[in-house]
Amino acid sequence: MWRALVPALKKRDESHSLLLMFLLASIAIPTFYSAGLFYGQRSTLVTAEYWRWWVVHLWVEGFFEVFATVVIAFLFTRLKMLSVPSATRAVMFSTVIYLSGGIIGTFHHLYFTGVPDYVLALGAVFSGLEVVPLVLIGFEAWENVRMARAREKRLWVGGYKWPIYFFVAVGFWNFVGAGLFGFLINPPIALYYVQGLNTTAVHAHTALFGVYGMLALGLMLFCLRALRPGTAWKEMPLSIAFWTINVGLALMVLLSVLPVGLLQAWASVEVGTWYARSSEFMQQPLLNHLRWMRMIGDTMFAFGALVLGWFVLGLITGHSFDKAGSLAEGEWEIKRK
Ligand code: HEM
Ligand SMILES: [Fe+2]
Repeated sequence: MWRALVPALKKRDESHSLLLMFLLASIAIPTFYSAGLFYGQRSTLVTAEYWRWWVVHLWVEGFFEVFATVVIAFLFTRLKMLSVPSATRAVMFSTVIYLSGGIIGTFHHLYFTGVPDYVLALGAVFSGLEVVPLVLIGFEAWENVRMARAREKRLWVGGYKWPIYFFVAVGFWNFVGAGLFGFLINPPIALYYVQGLNTTAVHAHTALFGVYGMLALGLMLFCLRALRPGTAWKEMPLSIAFWTINVGLALMVLLSVLPVGLLQAWASVEVGTWYARSSEFMQQPLLNHLRWMRMIGDTMFAFGALVLGWFVLGLITGHSFDKAGSLAEGEWEIKRK
């Protein structure tokens, strides 16, 4: 990343601040992940849990969120959907609230690990604040759809429609998966009953795949698009992949993991967490049926992944190009400085 960014950084043009944020986030991601290596076989559970949550939380809710915001803002400036100054302002603003809420917000994983009460209070307040940037991002995703539509002709013809759709999906899942489902399990009184139940899996899957999975797919398509400019892509496989992956993820959660989580939460309040997690509870016929309901969403999702794989393969073999629709010179071009 460093090697690729140095030439651009040296120019010191208006993109300088955005690029610097991008580089810092790229350095912070592996650095904060490496905390996961600080514990070993003989560490106590308390130590291991501390560093595990350090990775889970600071990594995904802190630096990776900053990275995602910067990279999407940056690409949108290149596509002329956002101006550099307003993108930079938005990035700085959300970074400040992400990190000020997110760093102290780590304590929302340590409410009941034997820490003093004030840690519980700090964690509850600051992790509550994390929802603010996510709501803003939700609005922004909607703005992006509108902007993309306004620029429809140039961009759509240029073939950036599907990468942009994946970026909009990032905003959607950030709002739903991280924001709504994250907040659902976030207050101390909620987590007291539901820690480690399927409600956590609801949040974890929708936030982790929804945000970073979709981001990875969007970035991959963006790069593939820029690698072979001038040739039009077939739309159908991308459209199928996009919708089955997104709807599949939603159905997986709505038809299976969420109902299981809610039933578990009920059992936990009525009887206790030990019961909600026990095999007596989890192996009841209703819960078995709900678990099997994952088939529907998961199959759709897997199908979408295969179609996308087939499409990417077709960029090598040629079957993903739309021969009739080749683009005129300049239409696909991202303006380079
Ligand atoms: C894109 C952003 C986010 C991602 C990718 C993400 C991902 C995850 C994952 C994978 C877990 C499960 C970790 C494990 O059990 O080892 C988790 C747990 C948790 N997340 Fe998030 N998260 C995000 C944002 C948020 C936000 C914004 C909140 C609340 C304001 C939140 C609140 C929680 C809580 C309270 C838990 C602990 C659940 C438990 O202990 O059972 N997360 N998150
Ligand atoms: Fe967290």
